[in-house]
Order: sequence, then structure tokens, then C-alpha cells
Amino acid sequence: MPEPRAREVVVRAPAKINLHLGVGGVREDGFHPLATVYQAIALFSTVTVVPADQWAVTCRAEPGIAVDQVPLGPTNLALRAARLLAERHGIEKPVAIHLDKGIPVAGGLAGGSADAAATLLACAHLWGLPTDDLAGLAAELGSDVPFGLVGGTASGLGRGEVIAPLVDNGEHHWVLLTFEDGLSTPAVYAEFDALHDGLEVPEPVIPDALVSALASGSSTALGGVLGNDLQEAALSLRPALDDVLRAGREAGALAGLVSGSGPTCLFLARDMAHRVELADRLAGGVAGAKVLTAHGPVPGATVVGLTLLDGTTTDGRVE
Ligand code: C5P
Repeated sequence: MPEPRAREVVVRAPAKINLHLGVGGVREDGFHPLATVYQAIALFSTVTVVPADQWAVTCRAEPGIAVDQVPLGPTNLALRAARLLAERHGIEKPVAIHLDKGIPVAGGLAGGSADAAATLLACAHLWGLPTDDLAGLAAELGSDVPFGLVGGTASGLGRGEVIAPLVDNGEHHWVLLTFEDGLSTPAVYAEFDALHDGLEVPEPVIPDALVSALASGSSTALGGVLGNDLQEAALSLRPALDDVLRAGREAGALAGLVSGSGPTCLFLARDMAHRVELADRLAGGVAGAKVLTAHGPVPGATVVGLTLLDGTTTDGRVE
């Protein structure tokens, strides 16, 4: 069994948005083939792991994030991540995991996947395990979890778990309208299937125009090529999102779309000043919505605090 290396590790992992979410017809395993472009944005889940007598997970969230929707039992994705890593390496030492959630729950922003990605990296450091082969375990936990490790801007193929970084020369500014009442990802995919019943669904592809817009670094160019094949299904389940998208357009966004399976709506600004203006215009204007802002791309899961067994911390301080 590897030697434990640390007595507390803190890792933060970002939310994801999909700049393009191309969805194909449902596969035999129940998943859908995807051709997506992910971007990691500066909304974070911060995860702390410490050795403990029993496996445990606790959670707090920022105001407006529905913490009561997070399961704290064995189905919690962060707990599953820690136990999976332990099982694969024959580790029998439990950890207590604390989630500090800054990413809305069931919002189409991969908040649970960020928790899982952060937990994998944190436990690998705690237990002195290699950190360069976590992608396979991440893919077992969920389609979006591998991207949570990598971050930046990247394409996602397969069911979203096959990640390749993309050149993104921009800094893009987003306004997000989030809702406490989330949407279930499987329900949105099921609605996609119902809407395409009897229709030929083409194989999804990553648009060349999107790859070029990212390389150009221009948010204006990017605004012209965003797309989400799940948007129609999310709007069908939550028709009020149509008014939200209209509000963003009328407030002057370069573009607006549903994030992943929703219900979060994303609005692209020209630059930081425009982002502030847009957020001000949208604040209070949409019933039940919370306005958040974030830039992207940002890095994937990152260690932000590590206390070694002798009490030494990452920044050299000794407790
Ligand atoms: O992979 P993940 O656990 O995040 O997926 C959650 C659910 O979303 C799946 O059970 C499936 O219903 C749906 N899904 C899908 N096709 C994908 C990814 C997710 O149908 N590519």
C-alpha cells in the first residue's frame, strides 16, 4: 500500500459550459454520442479531504445554490470518486470529504463532476498516488468528469469523456442566469429522444467555424457560432427559459444559449466592461434567477492547499 503523504488536501475544480453541444441518436448503452466543445469557467467547487475513521461527505454552498439537493450518502459523486480510487489502489483508509460548492446544482454546469474531479486529485495527493492516470477513473464516474481534470477549452467526443485540448486565444466573459430548481440531465436527454422519435439524427461534429473563432480569440466571432442540441429539449421541459434567453438578447448579449442540459442560461459579453453592464441589466429582471459572472477558459482541477504529515503547507508555512 502506498505511504500517505499529506494530512489535508484542498483542490478546486471549475464549472464547465458547452460552447457547442452536438448530440447524436441514442446508443445501445443508453448514452448519446457527443461532439462537444467544453470551456472551463471561473466558478469553482472547492473540496477538502482529510483522513477519517469512516467515509463521510459534508457540504456547504454559496447562497442561492440548492445544497439540499446534494445527496450525502453513498450516491454522492465525490464520495464515489474517493472510494473508486481507493479500491483501485487497495487503500483501506477512509477520508472525510468537505464540498464547498460555488457551482449551482443540476444546473448544466457539471457541478457534481467538478466535485468528483477535485476529489480524485485531492485523494491522489493525500495517499501519495500518481496523478497522471486519473482520466480513466474520471470517465467511469461520469461523462464530464475527465474534462473537470483538464479544464481550459477542449473538445469532447465519445459520450463526452474523450478530451482533446483546443487552442483558445481569447478571454471570454459570461453572464449566467441560474435557478435553484434544476433540471435532470437524464430527463433532458429523454426529452431529446422523444423530440427526435422516428427521425434520422445525424452524427454530431465539431464545427470548423467554432475552432477558428476560438483560435482568433474574438468573443464577437465566438458569439456567432455557439450552439446546443439539447436546448430544444430543455426549453420543452422548461418553456420559461425562452423568456430568459430573450431577456439576455434584449439586454445586448453577443449571444445567449442554454448551458448543457440546463436550466442555466449563458450570455456572452464583448469584454469585462460589457459583462458588468449586462449583469446589471439582467439583475432582478428575471423572476427566480440569480445572476453570476465568470470568465473562461480557466485551468482544470488544481491543488490550492496541501498540509503534509509534518505540518508543512504548500506555501512553506509550518503550522
Ligand atoms: O455520464 P453522466 O453520469 O454524467 O450521465 C448522466 C446521464 O445523462 C446518463 O445516465 C444519460 O442518461 C445522460 N447522458 C447521455 N449521453 C451522454 C451523456 C449523458 O445520454 N453522452
